Amino acid sequence: MAGEPLKPILAALSGQTLSRPPWWLMRQAGRYLPEYRALRANAANFIEFCLTPTLAAEVTLQPIRRFGMDAAILFADILLIPRALGQSVEFREGGPVLEPISPDKGLRHLRLEGLSALDPVYETIARVRRELPARTTLIGFAGAPWTVATYMVEGGGSRDYPAAKGWAYRDPDGFAALLDLISEATVRYLARQIEAGAEVIQLFDSWAGVLPEPLFGRCVIGPTRSIVQQLKQHFPATPIIGFPRGAGPRYERYADETGVDAVALDTVVPLEMARDRLQSRVAVQGNLDPIALLTGGSALEAAVVRIRGALGSGPLVFNLGHGVLPQTPPEHVARLAQLLTEPI
Ligand code: CP3
Repeated sequence: MAGEPLKPILAALSGQTLSRPPWWLMRQAGRYLPEYRALRANAANFIEFCLTPTLAAEVTLQPIRRFGMDAAILFADILLIPRALGQSVEFREGGPVLEPISPDKGLRHLRLEGLSALDPVYETIARVRRELPARTTLIGFAGAPWTVATYMVEGGGSRDYPAAKGWAYRDPDGFAALLDLISEATVRYLARQIEAGAEVIQLFDSWAGVLPEPLFGRCVIGPTRSIVQQLKQHFPATPIIGFPRGAGPRYERYADETGVDAVALDTVVPLEMARDRLQSRVAVQGNLDPIALLTGGSALEAAVVRIRGALGSGPLVFNLGHGVLPQTPPEHVARLAQLLTEPI
């Protein structure tokens, strides 16, 4: 059956090489945009903002209207899951603050029934789908279990992850039970996102890079593979992008063993490795340095040429290697959009 041609992002994620790479940016909705700051100022707090479908849908659409990216990413946060499971989560000036969970307190306060608190997210997705241009893809997302667990156990961001890693070393079964609970919640949450209209899923494992073996296998590969398998069983046509930030040479194993359709490259993955060892297995996304985008000018131009030169002859979704920084001038994003329309 000759259906509609695939949207550019879906074509790239299915393995096609496009003459110009489709693009979107991690954290493309956010504080670098004055129209985001204006709406955000009206919300009581960041969580209310995420869970108010009219506001969340509007900020999801803002960067698409301004720059015409090929994908919108749902406006939400990876820490909505711990909150829905019953943990207290607050976003303060210095970052998120959670009431930490620990082996002695155990998991008994965490309940999957609380996931109904996430229902507004599905309404946001439905609203965004109604308003997106026909060629634009909507990406849903969640944190991968290890990264979500670090916030739950450390009580916020961390440099060395002593509590989370310590628990994983000392009590592998107990820590595995925590990862299982997060995985179960994540599968349910992402299934509902897809049913509501998300066309691609990205799993953010921002702290994958801090785990040595055997923890990398147990905490990153295992739970990711389990989530991918369960989603693929029900939604075989929905592509999944994995972002094991900092995985280095283990990107290859991640691409082989988790079942993801694409890997999101951080800023430091060598492009020759990405081309020779990853792009033959999966589509790749990334890996522009957010500081090159912030810097703009010839630094931005050179970085774009380098990435397109190395990865443009295989399946590529152009993106950053981590999120847009709040200080980024919006004009630099507009310039990037223009650079990506030019042939190389
Ligand atoms: O990418 C997007 O535009 C979609 C929305 C999105 C947000 N967070 C909105 C947000 C996504 C995909 C995330 C993912 C996320 N959240 C990750 C994984 C990606 C990464 O950056 O490594 C992580 C680790 C979090 C947890 C989180 N949320 C932290 C550590 C912080 C504080 C740091 C900061 O930038 O303020 C947040 C807050 C947050 N999430 C903001 C936004 C737009 C800023 C909050 C505000 O507007 O006040």
